[in-house]
Amino acid sequence: MAKEMKGIILAGGMATRLFPSTIVVSKQLLPVYDRPMIFYPLNTLIKGGIRDILIIVSPEYSGLFVNLLGSIFENYGVKISFKVQRQPRGLPEAFILGESHIDHHNVALILGDNIFEDDFSEAIKNFESGGQVFAKKVPDPERFGVVKLGENNRAELIKEKPQEWISDYAVTGLYLYDQRVVEVAKSLKPSARGEWEIVDLHNFYLNQQELKVTVFDGAWLDAGTHDSLLEAGMIVKEKGISKNFHPIIEEATKEFCEIFKNSIKK
Ligand code: TTP
Repeated sequence: MAKEMKGIILAGGMATRLFPSTIVVSKQLLPVYDRPMIFYPLNTLIKGGIRDILIIVSPEYSGLFVNLLGSIFENYGVKISFKVQRQPRGLPEAFILGESHIDHHNVALILGDNIFEDDFSEAIKNFESGGQVFAKKVPDPERFGVVKLGENNRAELIKEKPQEWISDYAVTGLYLYDQRVVEVAKSLKPSARGEWEIVDLHNFYLNQQELKVTVFDGAWLDAGTHDSLLEAGMIVKEKGISKNFHPIIEEATKEFCEIFKNSIKK
């Protein structure tokens, strides 16, 4: 049987594109239609069978995340822990901060502002080793990390915001890796913009011909700008994405709201 997979939600960052809305609150706690944004990536991981999840947050808002998520799943078999990322130094830092959480397991990293309509539970449950990314066809690939598909669902080439066209498939914010990712992340050097880059992790696995690509069609929303946040809310409502959450989230949320209501009445 495959070893249990660990989960990480990267929910730090500065969210400068959402200023002033994110000056006193984290982007990932803003509502997207009827739930705080972080519930969407949480749902993707829980649907994928992941029950041990590390949430990486920026220091300013750590207390808010603990208030919302610190005890909500206590009776539902999902362990949530937290780590602070002092500065947004790049996505690969998730694996360095998460080393003891990963503890030599496979790991799924999801960005805290990424909302997926698709259910990736089969891909997550069937993952054994190497790396795996999830790609979606987009009209403006030059804005994204882009992957050129090779044979047998392997990645042939990955480039960050390519100026010359290589493919229409954007790499989205859900990544599966085996335990080697921790050591690879530790060995990376910051890029010209001073950040550790996720594309360098992908390239490690790509060079070993171990980077698998799963193409999907459903909605993919990254709620990072005022317009995309508004659009995300409308699409979530239209497609009933939050109505289709895993029962663990539904039941835990209901119970948590009841407890909260009763505590106000006293
Ligand atoms: P971004 O949207 O690239 O960054 P941001 O959220 O700080 O926003 P802005 O560009 O408006 O300033 O980040 C994507 C997601 O990854 C988001 O959920 C925040 C998270 N993130 C971290 O938690 N730590 C990091 O070091 C980086 C780069 C991103």
